[in-house]
Amino acid sequence: MKNRNVITIDGPSAAGKGSLARNLALYLDFEILDSGSLYRAYAYFYNQGLSDIKIVQAINELVFIPTKDDTNILYQNNEITSDIRNEEIAKTASRLSALSETRELLIDIQRNFMEGKNIIADGRDMGTVVFPEADLKIFLDASAKVRAERRYLELQKRGQEVNMRDLIADIELRDLKDRTRTLSPLIPADDSITIDSSEMSLEEVLSFTKRLAKKELNK
Ligand code: DC
Repeated sequence: MKNRNVITIDGPSAAGKGSLARNLALYLDFEILDSGSLYRAYAYFYNQGLSDIKIVQAINELVFIPTKDDTNILYQNNEITSDIRNEEIAKTASRLSALSETRELLIDIQRNFMEGKNIIADGRDMGTVVFPEADLKIFLDASAKVRAERRYLELQKRGQEVNMRDLIADIELRDLKDRTRTLSPLIPADDSITIDSSEMSLEEVLSFTKRLAKKELNK
């Protein structure tokens, strides 16, 4: 029996999934599952030498606090948001996320996240693998250049210095790896709606998605 509504937002890095998820969640009063953060957290704890069992325990202890422009991540009362949202961790997360061991460890955490509550889940395989029965599936895309510009501003806001050329190259390489990996590759679900946000503002994407959500949830 269906016990909650799920909206999935999949797409490549820096396509604006997080901002869309946060704003839509606020509008619909849904919870957010930011699956990319779980893969980044996995990479972060892995780099600290934790075993898989300890990593799962640590991930289950994470506290996600959505704010207007971001989601803060706390571990044992320490804020670890910047430790997780940097390009080094993103690269490790991308590498580890291609392994079946990693994906198997994280799938139950994702499916059981905030059990019984309505959620918006964003990531790469939310609509294809983790929540195939989701009520609404969005695939949010944008050109690599536009995404690199958005990520640049985001990292700059956090006080992290990055080189634009390196950023575009990193994003393109990570996309290629995410799209061509054997397990849970980044592809739109057959029943998803693709939005190319290269030339759209967040407000435009948001109002289009709000209309879709209202239609699907009122069925
Ligand atoms: O969305 P993000 O940039 O925070 O994700 C970091 C990495 O985690 C990304 O390179 C691929 C991986 N990831 C994944 O494999 N599956 C997901 N559902 C979410 C993220």
